[in-house]
Amino acid sequence: MRHLLDTTDLTVEEIDGLVSLALDIIADKQKYAHVCDGKKLATLFFEPSTRTRLSFEAAMMELGGNVLGFSEAGSSSATKGETVSDTIRMVSCYADIIAMRHPLEGAPRVACAKSGVPLINAGDGGHSHPTQTLTDLLTIFREKGRFSDLTIGLCGDLKFGRTVHSLIKAMCRYSNIKFILISPKELSVPDYIKTDYLEEQGMEYAETQSMEEVMPQLDILYMTRVQRERFDSEEEYLKHKDAFILDRDKLKTAKSDLTIMHPLPRVNEISTDVDDDPRAKYFEQALNGKYIRMALIITLLKWKDVVNDTETVVTQPKITVTGAKCTNPRCISNVEDIPHEFKLTDKKGTCRCIYCETKAN
Ligand code: CP
Repeated sequence: MRHLLDTTDLTVEEIDGLVSLALDIIADKQKYAHVCDGKKLATLFFEPSTRTRLSFEAAMMELGGNVLGFSEAGSSSATKGETVSDTIRMVSCYADIIAMRHPLEGAPRVACAKSGVPLINAGDGGHSHPTQTLTDLLTIFREKGRFSDLTIGLCGDLKFGRTVHSLIKAMCRYSNIKFILISPKELSVPDYIKTDYLEEQGMEYAETQSMEEVMPQLDILYMTRVQRERFDSEEEYLKHKDAFILDRDKLKTAKSDLTIMHPLPRVNEISTDVDDDPRAKYFEQALNGKYIRMALIITLLKWKDVVNDTETVVTQPKITVTGAKCTNPRCISNVEDIPHEFKLTDKKGTCRCIYCETKAN
């Protein structure tokens, strides 16, 4: 049985397979209208969502299946103190597959260890959002026809932007990709993304605080929201909230075939006057999310019965670092009663929390 906790759980060939399947679904929806007859998807959203939850639910319905679940932690027994592990153990008795969003980083990794059915990370805190990345990859393929030879600008809150982290991890595996990271210094990508992915894979990347300066180079501009809910104080959020605003004027120097993406929701970072620009693809991107999630549900249910599957993420090597604790207050290991566990991530002996990838102290 396979789960999806991060984009790196999938090989490049498996991603190609999901994208091909999604394209086939788009071409002939009727062919897939009954492939999940009698199956149930549970959507467990401990944090708000519009696109991810509803596109998962629409995806399962269009495959002939049914959905159950909750859209806020307040309507679940989490409010009575039930742990993530116990919740998942229960829900996997009621459903064939689970999509789960949680504000704590690493919560889906804890959950999948107790799940009797495939579990999908639908976003964990500021850490990862792999199904958004699959959505982004389908969009890139439909717009560009390739995953290689691209200059990608990632703009906004790159520190807490889980969609950015997952997209970088995925795109690092393709050739001739250049990343331009556009953010205020305080919101730059976490160190582990630079060292363990960009540098480890020998990727070309640059950091800047000026969108205008790099606009002419970009094939893709991936805008992100500065997320109020991730900041410790309102003052910090207000300082950064309007750091980057894309408008028609700033697009004057952009390539004619630029693809403008955004995982949505947007607040101020893309002016509505950009929406009519043929290069703006963020609403098509949201629709692609339904098709790729249909492909993912079909694939994980097919893999469910595969035995001797050595790639399952639950078996990844863990090590004990005596006395070490994860220093990330948003990590599940600091909230629920589970052991602090780490993994070796490079030859220099760097250890990172298996749940949130924070470096061991
Ligand atoms: N892109 C995304 O995750 O949107 P929601 O928060 O609405 O699910």
